[in-house]
Parts: sequence; structure tokens; C-alpha cells
Amino acid sequence: MASKKLLELMNKGVSRELQVAIQYMWQHVRATGVETAAVAGILRGIAVAEMKHAESIADRIDYLGGEVTTQPTPITVGKNLREMLRLDKKAEEEAITLYKETIKLADAEGDITTRELFEGILGDEEDHHNQFKTLLGE
Ligand SMILES: [Fe+2]
Ligand SMILES: [Fe+2]
Repeated sequence: MASKKLLELMNKGVSRELQVAIQYMWQHVRATGVETAAVAGILRGIAVAEMKHAESIADRIDYLGGEVTTQPTPITVGKNLREMLRLDKKAEEEAITLYKETIKLADAEGDITTRELFEGILGDEEDHHNQFKTLLGE
């Protein structure tokens, strides 16, 4: 069974996923101006992907006998498109760091299914990170 530390890391993941699911969806809603026309659809798509991440991590925590958090980490929508994208790129960087740590611990505990779950999610977060970087023109 999973250690307390692993369940804690997984719940941190749920909190982050809830945060960005709301953050990106509200950015999609609030984004205005000609510049945002293409970006709004991308934000909506990523928001839905993040909610699916929250669901799959929550399912795994529940299976492992843990209690799933309902608390998102603080949501930072931003005031203009550039600020939004900078906040989103940072959120993805933090998720990448957290999930690498989670993968290492799951591996150390011989929890292959959890490791594989987070490996899949990590790949998605790297893709989101790349999309935000590209949108910022970096
Ligand atoms: Fe995610
Ligand atoms: Fe992401």
C-alpha cells in the first residue's frame, strides 16, 4: 500500500489539477480582444484535460485507501493575456517538478501503476508547458 508521503504528493497533485482546471477555464471565459481569439479555445481544451487529470489521480488515491482533497491550490487568473500565459507556464513548471518527485517515490515503493499514471500525466504537462511557451513566443 502507498505510504503517507506518496498519498500526500498525490493529493498535492489533485489540488494543482483543480487549480489549473479552474484557472484556465476562467481565463478562457475572461479573455477578451482580437489577440485572444485563438488562445481562448486552447485554454478551454487544456482546462478540460486538467480536470481529467484530477479525476484519474483522485481515483487512484481512493483505490489506495487515501482521502481525496477537495481543495485547489490558489488560483491565479491574471489581468491580461500575457500575464495569464506567464502564470500558466509557471503552473506547468511546478506540476512537472511535483510529478517527477511523485514518479520517483512511486517507483521506490514498487507502485508501478501509480508511477505509470504520473508518467502519462507528466507527458501531458510537458506538452502544455510547450504550448504556453510557444504562445508567449519563447
Ligand atoms: Fe494536469
Ligand atoms: Fe497541464
